[in-house]
Amino acid sequence: MAASEFFDSNADFYGALEPHRHDSFFIDFISKHTKKCNLLYIGGGGGCFTKTCKDHFQETNLCIVDSSKSLLNKQKSNGIKLVVGKLPDELNIDEKFECIHIKEVLHRVTGSSIVNSKKIVSESLINAQFYLNNDGYILVHELFYESYLIPTFTRTMIFYLLKIQNLLKIKIPNKHFLMNLDVCFYTRRELREIFKSLDFNVIDYYEEEWENSKYSKVGLIRHWGRMCFVLQRQTNKNDSTNISTMK
Ligand SMILES: C[S@@+](CC[C@H](N)C(=O)[O-])C[C@H]1O[C@@H](n2cnc3c(N)ncnc32)[C@H](O)[C@@H]1O
Repeated sequence: MAASEFFDSNADFYGALEPHRHDSFFIDFISKHTKKCNLLYIGGGGGCFTKTCKDHFQETNLCIVDSSKSLLNKQKSNGIKLVVGKLPDELNIDEKFECIHIKEVLHRVTGSSIVNSKKIVSESLINAQFYLNNDGYILVHELFYESYLIPTFTRTMIFYLLKIQNLLKIKIPNKHFLMNLDVCFYTRRELREIFKSLDFNVIDYYEEEWENSKYSKVGLIRHWGRMCFVLQRQTNKNDSTNISTMK
């Protein structure tokens, strides 16, 4: 099942519109660094973050690109451009922005293996950069689940358990293991390594670590939470065109 079909059929689960406390990190950053909020929200789903931007900024130019038509349809556009498109290389837009926000989407852009998923994430970031003004910022928000001893253990288990669930069509009895879901979470270190390999500098960072719970104990998780990166790419790179050469 394509990612767009998965999100179309789970639009109610993913279409929450309440603003979140952690979004204020990016809102504050945008306020400090740019005059108006000129932002592309990739994987914007129901548009929660753009709604917060609208409430906060007097002047905005906002566009949401999402692979799920149902999620886009869930919101009133209010002058926000809504585009059906997807990472890594079908964003279907023709303008550049001051900021690009990618919130809880990179772990959804998966391939057949973890190595392959990382390649698609890299490709996604480089292609997104193409729609950014010079000196613009990419705002990445992701979740981390890091295990004891081998930090990648839990996410590797989640990645392959979901693959098995989807292949055998036998549902794992946990509400987070939705049928046809595919995810590849990254540790804080892995994501920083991906950014570094693509010449993105982390120029600001915010993290929220969650308390231990029965879920973290069952999942052998030592550290879990949210990581929010503000990225800016070093200039003078040769790849000024949209990539498909990384495939
Ligand atoms: C977990 S939801 C996050 C929604 C929103 N960013 C938020 O945090 O409230 C993931 C979103 O990414 C979208 N998505 C999944 N794969 C995508 C892709 N390859 N390209 C663009 N959007 C994608 C889904 O349709 C969904 O809206």
